[in-house]
Amino acid sequence: MSDKDKDSTNSATEDTSKLWGGRFSEATDAFVQRFTASVQFDNRLWQHDINGSVAHAMMLQKVGVLSEEEKDQILGGLEAIWYEIEAGKFQWSVELEDVHMNIEAALTARIGNVGKKLHTGRSRNDQVATDIRLYVREQVDAILELLGKLQLALVDLAERDSDTIMPGFTHLQTAQPISFGHHMLAWNEMLERDYSRLVDARKRLNVSPLGAAALAGTTYPIDRDYSASLLAFDGPTRNSLDSVSDRDFAIEVASCCSTIMMHLSRFSEELVLWTSSQFDFIDLPDRFCTGSSIMPQKKNPDVPELVRGKSGRVFGHLMSLLTLMKSQPLAYNKDNQEDKEPLFDLLDTVKDCLFAYSEMMPAVTCKKENMRAAAQQGYATATDLADYLVKRGLPFRDAHEVVGKSVAYGIAQGKDLSELSLETLRGFSELIEEDVFAVLTLEGSLNARDHLGGTAPRQVLIAAGTARSLIEARPKR
Ligand code: ARG
Repeated sequence: MSDKDKDSTNSATEDTSKLWGGRFSEATDAFVQRFTASVQFDNRLWQHDINGSVAHAMMLQKVGVLSEEEKDQILGGLEAIWYEIEAGKFQWSVELEDVHMNIEAALTARIGNVGKKLHTGRSRNDQVATDIRLYVREQVDAILELLGKLQLALVDLAERDSDTIMPGFTHLQTAQPISFGHHMLAWNEMLERDYSRLVDARKRLNVSPLGAAALAGTTYPIDRDYSASLLAFDGPTRNSLDSVSDRDFAIEVASCCSTIMMHLSRFSEELVLWTSSQFDFIDLPDRFCTGSSIMPQKKNPDVPELVRGKSGRVFGHLMSLLTLMKSQPLAYNKDNQEDKEPLFDLLDTVKDCLFAYSEMMPAVTCKKENMRAAAQQGYATATDLADYLVKRGLPFRDAHEVVGKSVAYGIAQGKDLSELSLETLRGFSELIEEDVFAVLTLEGSLNARDHLGGTAPRQVLIAAGTARSLIEARPKR
């Protein structure tokens, strides 16, 4: 505890003017006030908090708990507060603890006693559960949009570079030649699954806890379907205890976001490698790179590096949320206030990273000569030679052996398989004939893999078309 905090402890006064003041004989300790407050960070929920209150007030009027006039006064007050916050003129107060009590107190200050009726049949417990769901839903929609934008950029690259040849790797060793476009579509597939995971999570989070009140429901004749529909929820939640306590929907979204970040981190690793002078496969636009203060020659891939680094904090926030939830007995506990900072930072981070990628990827250019040379170097067509022999009747294991020997010979001579003479090749197997050179070329190797999911440029273009139509068929949110 800092000295400042120590000074402020035990400074309780007779001020018991809190919203729960009736039960208390001394004011909250100043340190405890700061320690328990969340308004510093939960005020970003203000729009959802007001929308939730509007829906609640309209529902109370519909069922006869509020008069038409009272409802109109409340809605008018909330609207004025909305504009005040939007204009940056609203005074947030730590004494009022959180966004909910700040807005409610401002309402009463503005419209008088009617403001005090808004909280009828409601608790901050169902209120905050509603606000967070609305917030997460909005953020999920923003993330879905960014995912789509990045996916389209990858599909564009796939079409542009359907026949750009690069080495494909396993164990980061040259394995077989592939098309750069095919590689981009592999990333797109990962994002496609990320998209569908989030859409699925959105279904489970889009239900309204309003009406659960503190934990057990309320004695008023509420209409939960009505308030749910006003907030564009698919319907009300089914159990009041569960509604106010679980944050599994946030955990699920955090998990989806962690998977997105894991994917972006993998892409980043490849971009970092590809821009190194050792690989030198691609160019990133200058505006997405930085220089070194000491080494004038440097152009560093900072954006991919940072995205790779930021995956760590997102995974960390997922762990925070899981740990926060794991020991809580039903129903609401104050622990849940700790869900916001990790969740907000996680969503901000994922959006920033997706935005960076969606802006950067369209400007990536391939250094085709380097990629081609690299594909040529690593005996990437060795499997093609084995397949050639199999097609001429040799069992695959024997073909593997023949090619292994040819490669060893090539390495010793410093030559690629395609550079060995027919006579030399026939020394390894009599089955080899003049037409072998067609399969030993990079183009031959790619074109031979002409089936669904294969790397033949023709297939890459078909796959890009399929990917594009999946993205374009998505509903607008
Ligand atoms: N600020 C609180 C939160 O974020 C709101 C709910 C408070 N409820 C309560 N019973 N203290 O969770």
